[in-house]
Amino acid sequence: MNAALSWAPPADHLAPVYAQWALDVVDAAGVHLHTRDGRQVLDLYGGHAVAALGYSHPRLLAALAAQAKSLIFQSNAVPLEVRARAALRLTRFAGLGLNTAFFVNTGAEANENALKLALRITGRRKVVAVEGSFHGRTAAAGAVTWGAAQKWYGFPQAPFEVEFVPRGDLEAVERIVGTDTAAVIVEPVQGVGGALDLGEPFLSALRRRCTDVCALLVCDEVQCGMGRTGYPFAANMYGISPDMITTAKALGAGFPCAALLMADHVASHLKTDDLGTTFGGGPMACAMIETVVDIIESEGLLANVRELSQQMRATCVVGPVTGTQGAGFLLGLRTRRPARDVQRELLEQHDILTGTSGDPHVVRILAPYVLESQHVAQLRDALASLPA
Ligand SMILES: Cc1ncc(COP(=O)(O)O)c(C=O)c1O
Repeated sequence: MNAALSWAPPADHLAPVYAQWALDVVDAAGVHLHTRDGRQVLDLYGGHAVAALGYSHPRLLAALAAQAKSLIFQSNAVPLEVRARAALRLTRFAGLGLNTAFFVNTGAEANENALKLALRITGRRKVVAVEGSFHGRTAAAGAVTWGAAQKWYGFPQAPFEVEFVPRGDLEAVERIVGTDTAAVIVEPVQGVGGALDLGEPFLSALRRRCTDVCALLVCDEVQCGMGRTGYPFAANMYGISPDMITTAKALGAGFPCAALLMADHVASHLKTDDLGTTFGGGPMACAMIETVVDIIESEGLLANVRELSQQMRATCVVGPVTGTQGAGFLLGLRTRRPARDVQRELLEQHDILTGTSGDPHVVRILAPYVLESQHVAQLRDALASLPA
């Protein structure tokens, strides 16, 4: 094994809850991480889909520095121009009639608020989710996460009734989503579940059924949103109109922030004190959100994601890869051998960082939107050199 890969952190005071890669990163620039021993690693994972613009993007850094200098924080009790601008830019970017934004801090918190609103608005007690889903680790988000109860949930009971629909099962949608359902929450392209595109027929069936029974459709686009599919949101790609979208990760491109986007018929239920947060919608986060949208639009990054994703699909089915799934830069490389082995070999032998997922035969690619064709070629050559 390469010496750099056998590095381990000294015993420290951090909770021992994370399996960690043996990767001693000191800094990063563009699409590369730099390690203490001088390796340059092509980052196709971006810290769980966060580093959507790569590292040290000059416009992002300039906006961050300028905002820090002018006003580092004020709460939502103080109206701020940067917050209003961020909400305008983000809701326009999304389209879909989602005209209202509530800013929070994490994906789980966005989902927590979306579900709370849906339960309150409808006065119902049940939430339907999809098998294979991941929605976060808080009480409500964890309750609708597939397998959480068996693995790590920890709360004695879910805060509402939960039922799961098998992926792609249209008959189960009709049977399980009923007049007792407050909301259906779905990742249009599942991330942790295996970079799996749930497809237009299934998503449209969820939309239709929610409309029929007056339940609210929540698209969790924490991972697949904010341009990752090559469209503003996956809902835009599929042509479906959710009642709410939650988003985070790429939203701040490294600055922690999240948002709940709402259609008018949802937002119209809100009054003072219904929702709240200290840090959500802070000026630093809002400056980042505004700048991220601006960079995605002005640098043509949605088209870049679509084009290079297509190049990956067309060229990377080599070596241990038998096929592709997912969308844009939430791409799954289906592997003949365990994905973990392929991931390790890419990192150890070729200095390429990728992810795995809940599917043991899927390598998950969460590449930065600023990737170039030469990097796709580098991935292809690396995969082609690995044993099938
Ligand atoms: C689809 C999805 N929803 C929600 C979350 C939770 O987000 P956070 O970790 O910011 O709470 C994640 C995190 O991986 C996610 O992938």
